[in-house]
Amino acid sequence: MPRTFFVGGNWKMNGSIQTSKELVGNLNKAQLDPKTEVVIAPPALHLLLVKELVESAQVKVSAQNAYHKASGAFTGEISVSQLKDAQVPWVIIGHSERRTLFGEADSNVAEKTKAALAEDLGVILCVGETLEEREKNETVNVVVRQLDAVAAEVKDWTKIVVAYEPVWAIGTGKVATAEQAQEVHAAIRKWATDKLGSQVADDLRIIYGGSVAAKNCKELAGQPDIDGFLVGGASLKPEFVDIVNARL
Ligand code: G3P
Repeated sequence: MPRTFFVGGNWKMNGSIQTSKELVGNLNKAQLDPKTEVVIAPPALHLLLVKELVESAQVKVSAQNAYHKASGAFTGEISVSQLKDAQVPWVIIGHSERRTLFGEADSNVAEKTKAALAEDLGVILCVGETLEEREKNETVNVVVRQLDAVAAEVKDWTKIVVAYEPVWAIGTGKVATAEQAQEVHAAIRKWATDKLGSQVADDLRIIYGGSVAAKNCKELAGQPDIDGFLVGGASLKPEFVDIVNARL
């Protein structure tokens, strides 16, 4: 079975009630490639509003983060169980901004992923190297270390989409070349083959994130191991639709 193309829009901490309504309004009017799975991740405050406004069953919503405990004295956090209760079907875990700005270690990412899967959520699991790590030729080691931490806790990867997001390409306008991205995606698929088996590896969606835009998405989408995108800045613009339609 070919892997379904997956495009996520990570709105990060952007927008207002009004702009969220406008973004969803644009998506509702757009012609989306019916073969693309689309998931948008607004800020937590806007999640349920956005979920209500989305008209197409093709477009689902995602949280940008969640805490692994079900409930309790964790001021400021939202739990995976609360996401499930609110019928939010996806969560992004391990985004580099969570890792670097909020101190999430590989072990935190692993326990959050495990907890989200236990609630039957889909997980967009982010991995990726810093510029310093790339320059030291450590890219694959870093990504494998991040994935191994999750594999130590999680056996079933069917509800995980791996997002390879090189930190140096995020929000910088400096997109990885199609070759650079394909090389790491192929390494991730090889890791999955060795660690999880060839069937799981064949089915695993590995998407790319980092300065994806209308102008570069088609070449990236043409690579054999690139199964979609996690889009930041451009997901707040009309060109998000062109990225969803990258394979058309
Ligand atoms: O999660 C998406 C992301 O970090 C990429 O952001 O703005 O470079 O597309 P951007």
